[in-house]
Amino acid sequence: MLDFEYYNPTRIIFGRESIAKIHSLLENYGENIMLLYGGGSIKKNGIFDKVMEQLRDKNVIEMGGIEPNPTIETIRRYIQKCREEKVEFILGVGGGSVMDSAKMIGAGAVYDGDVWDFFKNHDQLPEAMLPVATVVTLAGTGSEANQNFVVTNPDTCEKIGKNGGPACFPEFAVCDPQLTFTVNAYQTASGAFDTIAHVFEHYFAEADQYMPVQDGMQEAVIRAVITELPRAIKEPDNYEARANLMWAAQQALFGIADMGKGHGERVEHKMEHILSARYNCAHGAGLAVVVPPFRKHMCRLNPAKYRQFAENVFHIDCTGLSDYEAGMKGITALEDFIKSVGLPASLREIGAESESDVDFLAEELVRQGRVTKGTGIGLKELKEMYASVY
Ligand code: NZQ
Ligand code: ZN
Repeated sequence: MLDFEYYNPTRIIFGRESIAKIHSLLENYGENIMLLYGGGSIKKNGIFDKVMEQLRDKNVIEMGGIEPNPTIETIRRYIQKCREEKVEFILGVGGGSVMDSAKMIGAGAVYDGDVWDFFKNHDQLPEAMLPVATVVTLAGTGSEANQNFVVTNPDTCEKIGKNGGPACFPEFAVCDPQLTFTVNAYQTASGAFDTIAHVFEHYFAEADQYMPVQDGMQEAVIRAVITELPRAIKEPDNYEARANLMWAAQQALFGIADMGKGHGERVEHKMEHILSARYNCAHGAGLAVVVPPFRKHMCRLNPAKYRQFAENVFHIDCTGLSDYEAGMKGITALEDFIKSVGLPASLREIGAESESDVDFLAEELVRQGRVTKGTGIGLKELKEMYASVY
């Protein structure tokens, strides 16, 4: 097990009508509150009114319009607005795009310089952030209770994720599974698959070491997604299914389940980020396309762990099979699951229009220096993987 320190100061308020606690939670913060949200779904499903009721004593600076896969241009504009309005607290109400933006705006508002260079430089962490809190309306990224954020620069076709460090945790996260009842089947599946991909990156790391606590927790998270996602698709207002998906998503990137493990090189996330930068596809949908080819590649290097996955997650009887054969059965089961929940399995389904995109995607990733040698993956392997799912 790798050495670790665990730190997460975010207060999690989970359950029905947890929005009603926002008023008292905000008592000790300033008057000027930026209410950040996305394209307007919160106005259609009533979440906006409920939040506004909680902000009744505050001076609310309403800022909608955060786009899925937020761009650096939007973040720069909102930072400017934040300064002009002397914002003292940011409440992000939405999915990962809004919650990430709240952190980026909060960190950018107290930083003197251009935020793109700042966020891109992984050696430089924000020293401070305006206080931020989140209200989750889409389960998947876990952004509500972690210090990470992701931003896109469409001009350079780059999408970068950053671990913002200790300053970037939200003060509190309001997690009412009922708020996700209106998320459509595709976005629900996309968020849920994001959860699986987050677990994978840690689950398959340090595979030669015995870590039954972490493995057991991670397998439980994936199994929960596999049983609960079909339930939530069939019955969008099934509280239990939505609650289990929300908690699974949070646990996947909360830190506890993966303490003591590394995170590999997060290659599939990097492979996906170039997809959403180019096609503006849903993040989890892009992951559904690239995770299977990437894991097939890795199964050859490390088959015993993939056998464990097949047996413990999908309960496949692998008697008589080699580790590799057993592991591949697990990945096939995952591919079947992806199709069964309506997620895409090819680049064409998320927007690719020409086979030349395969070369573009692979070359772009290498050009951006996103893939290193650790996994034995270079340009040739990337091209093979993208081509296999064109
Ligand atoms: O914009 P609105 O109107 O809110 O609609 C959104 C959006 O169209 C809609 N939606 C959200 N809640 C809803 C709802 N529709 C109906 N009812 C509700 N209750 O869903 C659409 C997608 O929302 P978005 O926030 O973009 O999705 P997601 O939560 O998947 O977030 C994706 C972003 O998070 C980043 C991704 O790269 C992407 O930019 N990630 C952040 C991570 C983190 N902070 O740790 C980790 C992830 O790996 C990920 O990269
Ligand atoms: Zn993700």
